[in-house]
Amino acid sequence: MIATERDLASVAGVLIGKAIRLSAAERHLVPRRSAVPTRTLKAIRAAIRAGDDPLGEAFCRIRTPGERRSQGATYTPKPIVDAMIAWAAATGTPQRIVDPGAGSARFLCAAARAFPRADLIAVEIDPLASLLARANAAVLGFARRLTVQLGDYRDFALPAIDGPTLFVGNPPYVRHHDIAPTWKAWFTDAARSFGFAASGLAGLHVHFFVKTRQLARPGDFGAFITAAEWLDVNYGSVLRRMLADELGGTALHVIDPKALPFSGTFTTGAITCFRVGRRPDRFTFRNIGTLDQLAPLSQGATVDWNDVESAPRWSAFLRRAAPARHNDIELGEFFRVHRGQVTGCNAVWIVGPNAPSVPARFLFPSITKARELLAAGDALISAAHLKAVIDLPVDLDELTARERVQVEEFLVWAKRLKAHQSFIATHRRAWWSVGLKQPAVILCTYMARRAPAFVLNRAGARHLNIAHGLYPREPFSDRDLAAILAYLRRHTGTAGGRVYAGGLVKFEPKELERVRLPRLEDVHRLLAEENDSAETIRRQSLQAPGA
Ligand SMILES: C[S@@+](CC[C@H](N)C(=O)[O-])C[C@H]1O[C@@H](n2cnc3c(N)ncnc32)[C@H](O)[C@@H]1O
Repeated sequence: MIATERDLASVAGVLIGKAIRLSAAERHLVPRRSAVPTRTLKAIRAAIRAGDDPLGEAFCRIRTPGERRSQGATYTPKPIVDAMIAWAAATGTPQRIVDPGAGSARFLCAAARAFPRADLIAVEIDPLASLLARANAAVLGFARRLTVQLGDYRDFALPAIDGPTLFVGNPPYVRHHDIAPTWKAWFTDAARSFGFAASGLAGLHVHFFVKTRQLARPGDFGAFITAAEWLDVNYGSVLRRMLADELGGTALHVIDPKALPFSGTFTTGAITCFRVGRRPDRFTFRNIGTLDQLAPLSQGATVDWNDVESAPRWSAFLRRAAPARHNDIELGEFFRVHRGQVTGCNAVWIVGPNAPSVPARFLFPSITKARELLAAGDALISAAHLKAVIDLPVDLDELTARERVQVEEFLVWAKRLKAHQSFIATHRRAWWSVGLKQPAVILCTYMARRAPAFVLNRAGARHLNIAHGLYPREPFSDRDLAAILAYLRRHTGTAGGRVYAGGLVKFEPKELERVRLPRLEDVHRLLAEENDSAETIRRQSLQAPGA
């Protein structure tokens, strides 16, 4: 029926009619003569009046996900649009509504119904999308209240009015690699004008928030849905700080990727609600597993804004706000976490080429560099490639006479390198006895610019203090252990650790013990569900046109 962009522009042109003046770019797309069957037009009008978006759906079908990616064009599912507009209606009565990156105007169609007197402004860079917005408005009877601003939202000017403005929509997700240097410079200057440092790594959705902050006045309010990564990453700090400040963050609803908040992509969604200049004392956090749980957006656990403001990242609050059946166990209930041993002098205790040899029974293959764990994947199968750490007994009298000769020779060498004088050596029972811990069942990195890497220690390796070891409090079956490991690898982020300069995240053993995870039976169920939805998405993307 509608097979090409030209067909789509043609149908939109007919639905818009002659009374609405189009921009030159839009006129250019609409064929001079359009012969759209009356039956087709009737069916489309009926679907739009019933609350569907057949033109937007046709757009997403005709333009492949790859083609839409450069403009971040992912249209919003109806339950999300409806929940956000219902929240707006419960929050205030806007005199005008701005939808930045309006696409086919899904938000404005719902807003036009909820706010029958408000002026509606669609800001959109793509003339084909703005034709669809106008066509929807024409069918639903709000074309005369709609102003289409065809261009970049960051260039958009908004005249002052007396009443409040509602900003609502789904700002485009475009990664910083695809943002021109001039816009990055604009972003830095704009953020700086509010007193915030900004990173060049921020995506276009963060630029849209900064632009909204520029346009908004006290009394305005808004809700945007975006990808959720800004909660924790460094470049999201400008947005977190704006919400803590004049933008006036009120709530954050984080949507599980399994609910597909952005159709076709397995991405966590975040609905951010704000009331400009009227930040409440407490901020609401909520996790949502399925879209039917979304409304009303007044629900959630509240946290004192002072605590939120001082937190380096925000996911930790979400973990605490998680529904009871999720994440109600702390890792420490399953495992004791111990930092690896400090040798006091790695040049001596990690076997190197110049060290006199010691009996093999005192050599223990060990993780001595975090990168050994990163390279291992989910399991360390062999210790053959690892360096050995020398761990001698406290009581050397238990050595055989031959062993004793060898070890004495080694200790003379170690003393020459002053291994006996290190702070650590002088504080252990015998300076020559490093005291390695038993092999941990799971090993993990704890200091990096990434989430901890959890690795099953099938090789029985020991570990130095560049890793933490997890020791089960009760024995686990292989199946349970594999599930816990898979869950930790997939779901443990950087939240909960401490952030150091340059974005380095460090987890102390106690902090790692506080990482939350579901009960064991839920771990198995969640992993099975995730595997199912990943497989569904993989199959859908293989079937998508142009894939
Ligand atoms: C995520 S889509 C959302 C569309 C629609 N609001 C919805 O939710 O269904 C983002 C929209 O922003 C538009 N866009 C991308 N870059 C833009 C820019 N710099 N200024 C204005 N609109 C832009 C895209 O063409 C796309 O229609």
